[in-house]
Amino acid sequence: MKAPFSSEYSRLYDAVYRAKRYREEALRIRRIFEHYVPGARRVLELGCGTGGHARYLSRYYEMVCVDRSATMIRIAREGLRGRPITWRRADLGRGGSFGLGFDACLSLFHVMNYLTPAGFGRALGTVRHDLRHGGLFVFDSWNGDALLREGPASGERAFQSGGRHFVRRVTPRLNTHEGYCDVAIRIEEIQGRRRIIRSDEVHRMRYHFPNELRRLVARGGFTVRAVTNDVGGRLTGRDWSMQFVVTRN
Ligand SMILES: C[S@@+](CC[C@H](N)C(=O)[O-])C[C@H]1O[C@@H](n2cnc3c(N)ncnc32)[C@H](O)[C@@H]1O
Repeated sequence: MKAPFSSEYSRLYDAVYRAKRYREEALRIRRIFEHYVPGARRVLELGCGTGGHARYLSRYYEMVCVDRSATMIRIAREGLRGRPITWRRADLGRGGSFGLGFDACLSLFHVMNYLTPAGFGRALGTVRHDLRHGGLFVFDSWNGDALLREGPASGERAFQSGGRHFVRRVTPRLNTHEGYCDVAIRIEEIQGRRRIIRSDEVHRMRYHFPNELRRLVARGGFTVRAVTNDVGGRLTGRDWSMQFVVTRN
C-alpha cells in the first residue's frame, strides 16, 4: 500500500483543515506542559505535519519536529523559517532516536493511529528513550469505543485552495478483526462539469481502546496522568478522539 500524505495530498492539507483550531489546541498543550513539566525548554513533536501546532509552540520551546512525509516537512519548514526548530524526516514505526533529554513530546491528530502494533511499540520506545526522566508525552488516538458504537461514516466536503474548487470524499472500510479502518480519501478538482482526481489515498488507521492504551503505555515505561477527550473533558464512549497525558518513569 502506498504511504499516505503524498505530495498531492500534502499540498492540499492546509486547505482541507483550514478550520482546525491549531492555536487553541497548541495553547492547551502549553498549559498541560506548564502543569506537568514547568520550565520545559526542549520539545519533540512526532508527526508534525505542516507545522500547525509547532507554529505556536516554537514561540516558547526549542523543538525537534519529525514527519515521514517529505512534502509535509517541506511545507512546515518553509512556513516556519527562522523558528528554533530542527526538522527530521523519519518513519516513527522504525524506532530510532531524535535526541536525548527532551522535557516533553507531543503527537497530535491521530499520528499514532498510522502505526502498526509493532511500529507503535517502537515509537513508544523512541519517546521513552528521548525524554528525560519525568518527561511528558501527550498524544491522541481514535477511540475504538466510539468508532464501533457509531460506525465510521462516508462523507464529502467541498473546499477551496488558491481560487480553485475541490471536493474531498472519504470512504471508510472497517476491519474489526484486525482492528483498523481503511479510510479512502479522494480529492477531486471541480472545473465546470468536470471532476479531475488530484489525489487518491488509503489511510490505514489502527484504533485503540482506552484500557488497551493504558496497558500499552504502562508496559512501555510510562505512568498515565490523564485520559480525556481532545478538549480535556471526561472521556466517554461517544468521543471519537482520546488524549493521553503520560510521564516517563
Ligand atoms: C493527520 S496528520 C497530522 C499532522 C499534524 N500533527 C497536525 O495536527 O496537523 C498525520 C501526520 O502523521 C504523519 N505520519 C503518519 N505516519 C507516520 C510515520 N510512520 N512516521 C512519521 N510520520 C508519520 C503524516 O505524514 C502526517 O503528517
